[in-house]
Amino acid sequence: MFLSVSSSPTSVPPTDRAVHRVLGIETSCDETAASVVDGGSTIVSSVVSSQIDLHARYGGVVPELAGRAHLELLTPVLDDALKRAGTTASGAGIDAVAVTYGPGLIGSLLVGVAEAKALSLAWGVPLVGVNHLEAHLFASLLEQPDLGWPLVVLLVSGGHTLLIEVTEPGRYRLLGRTIDDAAGEAFDKVARFLGLGYPGGPAIDEVAEEGDPQAFPFPRSLPGDRYDFSFSGLKTSVVNMVRKRPDASTADVAASFRQAVVEVLVTRARKAAAEVGATALCLAGGVAANSLLRRRVEEVCEADGIGAFLPSRSLCTDNAAMVAAAGWWRLQHGGASPLTLGADPNLGLVAAG
Ligand code: KG4
Ligand code: ZN
Repeated sequence: MFLSVSSSPTSVPPTDRAVHRVLGIETSCDETAASVVDGGSTIVSSVVSSQIDLHARYGGVVPELAGRAHLELLTPVLDDALKRAGTTASGAGIDAVAVTYGPGLIGSLLVGVAEAKALSLAWGVPLVGVNHLEAHLFASLLEQPDLGWPLVVLLVSGGHTLLIEVTEPGRYRLLGRTIDDAAGEAFDKVARFLGLGYPGGPAIDEVAEEGDPQAFPFPRSLPGDRYDFSFSGLKTSVVNMVRKRPDASTADVAASFRQAVVEVLVTRARKAAAEVGATALCLAGGVAANSLLRRRVEEVCEADGIGAFLPSRSLCTDNAAMVAAAGWWRLQHGGASPLTLGADPNLGLVAAG
C-alpha cells in the first residue's frame, strides 16, 4: 500500500539552533517515561510511571494492556517531566524530542512515537528515533561522561542478554548473546514458579540475600567457546529440583539460582573484557540492578585492574533519561529522523566498527 502525503512536511526543517535540552520519551515495554536532559548528560527531570501493578496478576507484561496504559499515562507523565524541568506543554526551552522506536512491543512503541512526532511538529524542533538497546548503553555515560574506550558492556534485561564491545559511542561489536531465554526472563520465570510474584528479578534478589548460594549446585551453562549465554537449562533444573524437593527453602533455591546466573554472566564478561583490552566493564539493563551481580562485577574489575561502571539502579531499568542522552548524541552525529519515522519491534543494535 502506498500513501501520498505530499502536502505534509516529512521532517522539521533543521534549525541552526544548538541542541541543549532534549525531551526523551520511553514507552517500549511496561514503563511510561519522560525526561529532560541537558547537554546529553545532565538530568533536569526524569519521571517513570511503572505498570507493574497492572501486569502483576498475569505474571508478565500483557502487550494489549501495556499499549492502552501508555496512552492514558503518557500525557500526565510528560506534563510532570516538563513541569519539573521548568517548562510547560508549550515546550519552551526544549531543543529536540527523542523517542524509543524499537525494539519493544509494537502497540506500546507506537504510542510514544506518535506523541513524539506531534510534539516535534508542534514545537518546530527536530525528532530523533532512538534504539532502546543503545539507550541502555548511554545510561552509563549519563553518570560517567568521561569513560575511556574500548568498553565491554553487559546488557542484561527482560528481553536481552548481550555482551557488546563499545569501541567509542555509536560503534558497537556484538561479542555474544543468549541463545534462548534472556537473563531477566529467567529471573521472572523462576520467580513465578517459586510464587515470588512479578517482576521476578527484584523479588529473587531480595529473598536470595537470606539464603545459602551453595545449597543447590545448579548447572552453569557456557555454550560454545565464545561469549554466548543460555539460561533455559538452568530454569528447567530449578523447576525439576523443587518438584523433587518441595520442602526446599525458597531462600536457598533463590540464592543458588541467582549465584548460577551471576557466575555465568560475570565469567563471560570478564573474559571478554580481558580479550578486547577493555578499560572498563559496564553494566546496563534491568538485571544490572541485581545486588550480587553488582558486587561481583566490582570485585572482578578491581582484581583485574579495570574500571567497573554500574549505573544507579533507577538508570538500569527502563527510563527516558537514557533515551534523551542517546538522542542528544545521535543529533550531534547522525542527525534527526524524518516525521515518517515508524516503530520497529525487532530493531537490533547495529553492529558497526
Ligand atoms: O531493562 P528493563 O527494565 O526492561 C527491559 O527492557 O526488559 O529490565 C526488566 C528486567 C525484568 O526481567 C526484571 O525482573 C529484571 O530486569 N530486574 C532484575 C532486578 N531488577 C530488575 N533482575 C535481577 N535482579 C534485580 N534486582
Ligand atoms: Zn530496557
